[in-house]
Amino acid sequence: MLASSSSTAISLHPLANYNASATPSLNPSSLFFSSSYSYLSPLSFRLHSSKTHLRITPKKGLRVSCSTNEPLKVMISGAPASGKGTQCELIVQKFGLVHISTGDLLRAEVSSGTEIGNKAKEFMNSGRLVPDEIVTAMVTVRLSRQDAKEKGWLLDGYPRSFAQAQSLEELNIRPDIYIVLDVPDEILIDRCVGRRLDPVTGKIYHLKNFPPESEEIKARLVTRADDTEEKVKSRLEIYKQNAAAISSTYSSITNKIDGNRPKEIIFKDIDSLLSQLLKDKTAKSVKPVLQTENCLDQASSNEEKWRGIPTRLNNIPHSREIRNYFYDDVLQATQRAVNDGRTRLKVEINIPELNPEMDVYRIGTLMELVRVIALSFADDGKRVKVCVQGSMGEGALAGMPLQLAGTRKILEFMDWGNYGAMGTFIKIGSIGAKEVDEEDDMFILVAPQNAVGNCIIDDLRAMTDAAGKRPVILINPRLKDLPGSSGIMQTMGRDKRLEYAASFESCYFFRLLYYAGTQYPIMGAIRMTYPYDYELYKRVDEPSGKEKYVSLSTFKERPTIDEINDAFLGKPRNKDKKASGIWGFLSGVF
Ligand code: AP5
Repeated sequence: MLASSSSTAISLHPLANYNASATPSLNPSSLFFSSSYSYLSPLSFRLHSSKTHLRITPKKGLRVSCSTNEPLKVMISGAPASGKGTQCELIVQKFGLVHISTGDLLRAEVSSGTEIGNKAKEFMNSGRLVPDEIVTAMVTVRLSRQDAKEKGWLLDGYPRSFAQAQSLEELNIRPDIYIVLDVPDEILIDRCVGRRLDPVTGKIYHLKNFPPESEEIKARLVTRADDTEEKVKSRLEIYKQNAAAISSTYSSITNKIDGNRPKEIIFKDIDSLLSQLLKDKTAKSVKPVLQTENCLDQASSNEEKWRGIPTRLNNIPHSREIRNYFYDDVLQATQRAVNDGRTRLKVEINIPELNPEMDVYRIGTLMELVRVIALSFADDGKRVKVCVQGSMGEGALAGMPLQLAGTRKILEFMDWGNYGAMGTFIKIGSIGAKEVDEEDDMFILVAPQNAVGNCIIDDLRAMTDAAGKRPVILINPRLKDLPGSSGIMQTMGRDKRLEYAASFESCYFFRLLYYAGTQYPIMGAIRMTYPYDYELYKRVDEPSGKEKYVSLSTFKERPTIDEINDAFLGKPRNKDKKASGIWGFLSGVF
């Protein structure tokens, strides 16, 4: 819950009461984006920190580029009627930023009669501030949209309290510039009382200063309910009480502008400030800084986005490039499967850092992978629940798989991006039917597994039943039976459990292959990405000291040990052959 500067406590989940019908119908100074506006439209989250964007360029190998090429982010502030809306019209015309005016958003809610609008109405009509929770949720959701991130934004009327400014700071949302329009009080009152709005074009007029162009327009102009002299005085008072605290947050980027001049002259000042900023940003925006093509060797494949298997996979910890390669590989496969309407999916990826049978297993790598997938689906507007099983069993017998210990806490503390994804489009849950909420669009289950004496499958089955047709993706599940203290688990209902476990379709599979009984050197790899075949690779040492993976064969189904042996020995396929010695290690795995 965000801190509130208002005395009225309204408990509101950021998206809880948003209503599809809340499309602004009266959006006085920003009608230009009203047609595409919807609170239920997807939030967008990209996988980047505030400054650095990691990008993988498919065909050229892995390529990490560091770019500051961000669009302008502008805040405009000032007392009521200082001319914010008027200047925003001009700024948008010239710079194409997405105008986000909290006053307009709220008025749209009021005129649509939404729950938010009904709550906001009494505050607005009396000239008081609407509670922070309501306004902050609106703003963060709007800022998260793709258009705002691509075109840049112009925030008008927010933040209006210290708590609101802090909320943005906590979300790492900072403008490039904070513009304050400075106008004497007596002028402000005259401007408010004379202000009229055109509900058709959204244009702002003033009876004396900017009269409407025709009688027809004049006839349809409306007056805002809070534009009486008495209410303006109260709004002005509230503005003054908050102004100093807010500007202390932005003191290093504040530009005060004399707003008591003709609007074109004021805009000239703003124009030159923003143009300069834009120039500075463009000059700074660069350039690939690290190219790691030699980390990847190109193997042959018909698959369009093929990038080769990263080499040096026995070097632990894996480099960021290697991790990103696999995250992206898994992500693409998972997206294809979900887009094709597949709903029971599993991802199995056993590079050393994700293989719990090795002593280099890193939970952080698993968490990063989960985050990449979850944020990417959230980016497409899906509400994703990331689930980790809780402790199993009861009383003194309660326990949980070692590799999952602390996982939930790590997920909760992870950085889920700048734009408020966590708690809105991403939620953390556990495994079971009661975790399935109506609003969830899909579920990502982190390494669900049986523990000694405890079986997760009943909870899992209940959860998938409750999820219905919504996708459930298991990441590195381990659903094989494990010996229980009484041996019960290995016998009772085993067939049903295995049948259920097998009902999840592989959408990604990657496994390194080793000689029997060893984990060094790597002999090869099997890779499958939905909807393509299984690919078998052999690792080859080159005279230069480098290594590469060479494609040996492809298979419609996951290859058996015999098939792998034959491919490595260059033999034709022979389905009757028994497993020979070299791949004995694999028999436990497959
Ligand atoms: P909001 O709509 O943001 O109102 P405001 O800040 O009081 O600002 P105004 O819209 O009144 O004025 P403006 O500066 O845009 O001036 P304009 O260009 O129209 O908020 C309304 C209410 O919503 C608040 O009171 C609050 O209840 C709620 N609210 C909003 N944000 C909130 C938040 N973050 N937290 C909590 N509550 C929130 O110009 C005014 C007039 O002057 C026009 O007639 C114009 O033609 C004229 N004019 C403009 N420039 C000039 C010029 N240079 N010379 C002469 N006339 C000019």
